Amino acid sequence: MYWFAVVLIAIPCGRAQLTAQSSLAPDLRECYTVPQLVDRNNLPPTTMPVLIDIIRKIEDNPNINVDLRQLAVLLLHTYRQDGIEFHQPEVNLGAASTILPFAPTFHSFYRHRLLLTRIIPGNLQTLSNTTVNSELKCALHHMLSTTVDARLRGNENSCNQLSQYRALRTARDVTLVEDDVEIIDLATLKAANKNGHMRHHNPKDDVEYAGFGDVKSERQVLGQSTCPLLGGVVNTRWGAVSAGHLIAGIAAGAELQQVPVLELAKSSFLNYNNVQQSVTSIYPATLSGDLAEAVLIQGTERGNPSISIGTAGNWNSSQATRYYMLHSRINVEMTDPEIRGDIDGFVLGTVLSSVLSASNTLKLSQLLDMYYTPRNGVYNSNLRACNRQALSQQYITATNLASETYTFAAALDTNIPLRGTITGGMEDLVNSAVTNFQTYASNNLNDLNCVTTEATSVDYRLKTNLYIVLDAVWQFQAVYPAISYLLDNIEVSKYGSSVTLLSAFDGSVIVNKTFSISDFHTNYTFVRHQSLLSGVNMETSLTNIRIMMHNELENERTANYVGGNSSVLLFLLSSGNIQITQNALDQARILNETVPDLRILFATATNQFDNLWSMVRDVHNDIKTVSLNTEGTNVEITMNPVLDRIAQVGRRIINPTCGSTYPSDSTSGTRQFEDFVEPGFINYYAISPNYFYQNNGNRRVRISRSGVGSGSLIVCYSRATAQPRQNATLSGLDEGAVTCQTLATTGNVEIGLQNPCEGYWTINSCPFYYISVQSSVTASTSLSAVCTENACRFPYNVRYQVQIEEFGCFSSAASLGVSVGLLLSAILYNLFSSH
Ligand SMILES: *[C@@H]1O[C@H](CO)[C@@H](O)[C@H](O)[C@H]1NC(C)=O
Ligand SMILES: *[C@@H]1O[C@H](CO)[C@@H](O)[C@H](O)[C@H]1NC(C)=O
Ligand SMILES: *[C@@H]1O[C@H](CO)[C@@H](O)[C@H](O)[C@H]1NC(C)=O
Ligand SMILES: *[C@@H]1O[C@H](CO)[C@@H](O)[C@H](O)[C@H]1NC(C)=O
Ligand SMILES: *[C@@H]1O[C@H](CO)[C@@H](O)[C@H](O)[C@H]1NC(C)=O
Ligand SMILES: *[C@@H]1O[C@H](CO)[C@@H](O)[C@H](O)[C@H]1NC(C)=O
Ligand SMILES: *[C@@H]1O[C@H](CO)[C@@H](O)[C@H](O)[C@H]1NC(C)=O
Repeated sequence: MYWFAVVLIAIPCGRAQLTAQSSLAPDLRECYTVPQLVDRNNLPPTTMPVLIDIIRKIEDNPNINVDLRQLAVLLLHTYRQDGIEFHQPEVNLGAASTILPFAPTFHSFYRHRLLLTRIIPGNLQTLSNTTVNSELKCALHHMLSTTVDARLRGNENSCNQLSQYRALRTARDVTLVEDDVEIIDLATLKAANKNGHMRHHNPKDDVEYAGFGDVKSERQVLGQSTCPLLGGVVNTRWGAVSAGHLIAGIAAGAELQQVPVLELAKSSFLNYNNVQQSVTSIYPATLSGDLAEAVLIQGTERGNPSISIGTAGNWNSSQATRYYMLHSRINVEMTDPEIRGDIDGFVLGTVLSSVLSASNTLKLSQLLDMYYTPRNGVYNSNLRACNRQALSQQYITATNLASETYTFAAALDTNIPLRGTITGGMEDLVNSAVTNFQTYASNNLNDLNCVTTEATSVDYRLKTNLYIVLDAVWQFQAVYPAISYLLDNIEVSKYGSSVTLLSAFDGSVIVNKTFSISDFHTNYTFVRHQSLLSGVNMETSLTNIRIMMHNELENERTANYVGGNSSVLLFLLSSGNIQITQNALDQARILNETVPDLRILFATATNQFDNLWSMVRDVHNDIKTVSLNTEGTNVEITMNPVLDRIAQVGRRIINPTCGSTYPSDSTSGTRQFEDFVEPGFINYYAISPNYFYQNNGNRRVRISRSGVGSGSLIVCYSRATAQPRQNATLSGLDEGAVTCQTLATTGNVEIGLQNPCEGYWTINSCPFYYISVQSSVTASTSLSAVCTENACRFPYNVRYQVQIEEFGCFSSAASLGVSVGLLLSAILYNLFSSH
């Protein structure tokens, strides 16, 4: 122990960041002390979209002016502190105690400290404490910081019952069975208990508070979980990923350097022969870091010449994932999520220079978004998470990995407290680790591959303003996973959809319209749900919603909004026997007539068809029964029909001069908006007859390219099918006919809207115009950065313009006088405006 103290004093503290010191970084302490933040259920889920959302907020923060390289480094230095563990104090700490029973003592901390001080040192300041709010700060910290929480939670009996949640992956067959056996293998457990965790017994020499440094490892006293929680993990469709390793790989690639091994080693000479002079920073930041930990810890504790690599685990929920449980509590130095984070970080760090040479304005959020995406990838469809297995073989060579790992293990040995001393044979242990890593990465991860990914994902993205009207009678545990599922799939994000949560009690706002998935989750929590007034009042709700929607239309009139997003109002009702009063019906009708692009959907716990059929446009499709349970299971199957329906609603193209009043003499003139389509993707639009009911010979929509980009654009339109695409042309010229035209680099496609409602007696009976814009590229195209402006989600997006000419304003209310009130105001309006 005295030896260790001497060693630690030798660390110069000058450049070391607070997250590299062996006490909990001051800015992160509130994540472990403030009850609201300690409960992870109050923080946004740990998913890749949430991580990207928070990174975008930092990138958009006007006070932070850094590029991708600097941001990756800053994130690590500000928010990552690996290995923080709880230590049961010997005595009860009073409320006024100055001791916080958490410290970075888990093995992952020692590598982390080397990383921050020697391998990826940051000469920049860390990000200020106010960069993001406390919830997002703690979420980011927990997504980036690898640690194992082995505390007994009390729900361990359910660890074995969670096989249904094992990601979306298919049978892990043999591996899985073994894992499960391991969990209930008492002999293993006892052995593990005996081994204890003395190696974590931290001397704590450079910690400012003392008190539990010398007691037996607390976790021996407390008992341990059979399925400990792994921290620092985010959920992706392609397996759980340790985000700290991922970002570290990118940061190391951003300032790739050879680090002299003597700068890493804490004694003047190393124990080992054939050690390289230096390590390449990206190795210890990713793969070699974990492999070295496995070699040193297993090598000193297990005496097994074969180093075990890979520990499977699973989330304890299928939606809104927050807790990743390992299936074993021994050999947890290189778990599955760490393997994935290491490979992804290694690959992205390796290609970073060439990626940045394509566009040096690329953002970190974009790099992650392109890599964790079903199609296209980082300029090249090979560079995608679904292709991880092939990437791993392509980019990682066993000999380099072995020599880098051997050298780093020698250096780490002088930094990490171990329960023994390796006196020989480390080369063999390293070779075993590298071999086992390669075997495991090729055979055992079983993540969704690219073929299945593409077959199970659609080639269009939603931009929907989704308004959810929530009945607080639902149990939170049942409805929250369902909402989460919808929001993940409509991609609530800066470049995608928005969500607004309203109360079915009175239509009041619970969570304001937001494009930030993390903001939604921090605002809609269990406590918030419990505070809502329960019950459904359709009359009050619809009145308030109608007023809100009219205000939105007026705002769009002011903003000259021509279109680009769709809107859906989804009632999520648990109460039975929904009462529809005449007044409620009137409000629904006014919405129907004056907010024509708003699709109203109902998802109810029990069949309410008889009460609700008069409220919707399409009685066959717009009312669904959803049976949600408090275990949060079967959410996908249950909610998919609702999601499909939301996805069918096309993006609006509107005449902004109509507002909510539809003045009959108001025409749009010529107006346009810009939109973007991802290569190989398709955007769907819908134009309501409220803008073209009566004929105008000059009324048309014109689509033209307004930027460069790969491939051609195909424009299709139809009156009959909401999602027209090219192939439907084959079906002939019947009513379902789809007309398509290819748009060259110059010129445009014009769609004339002449006599479109001939033969239809009411506006509502006249069908919409459905238009699609598809980007057609050959599969293997390498994409380039053509869209570097802020409005582009991906740098390879293709930009085009949608122009409207001579759209009118027609509403059933004004023309047919269905609603007396509106008719009156229409008459008055006409009287005053035309005379
Ligand atoms: C960081 O901000 C939080 C909330 O604003 C505050 O409670 C905490 O004390 C701050 N930490 C430091 C070190 O100033
Ligand atoms: C998952 O585990 C955590 C921690 O034990 C618990 O708080 C949470 O309720 C669990 N979630 C589900 C869906 O079981
Ligand atoms: C439409 O969606 C985009 C993002 O997808 C958003 O920036 C814009 O504000 C939205 N517009 C409206 C009117 O909702
Ligand atoms: C929603 O936003 C409005 C104004 O932007 C604000 O007055 C209101 O308090 C917000 N409501 C909630 C629930 O955050
Ligand atoms: C979430 O809640 C915070 C604090 O109550 C509030 O400032 C913020 O506007 C809310 N966000 C949304 C989207 O409602
Ligand atoms: C809305 O319009 C449709 C016709 O498109 C009609 O079938 C439906 O009954 C209307 N709903 C209400 C509430 O007026
Ligand atoms: C059209 O259909 C054919 C045969 O089903 C298919 O091979 C082709 O890829 C499709 N084309 C498009 C553009 O979807």
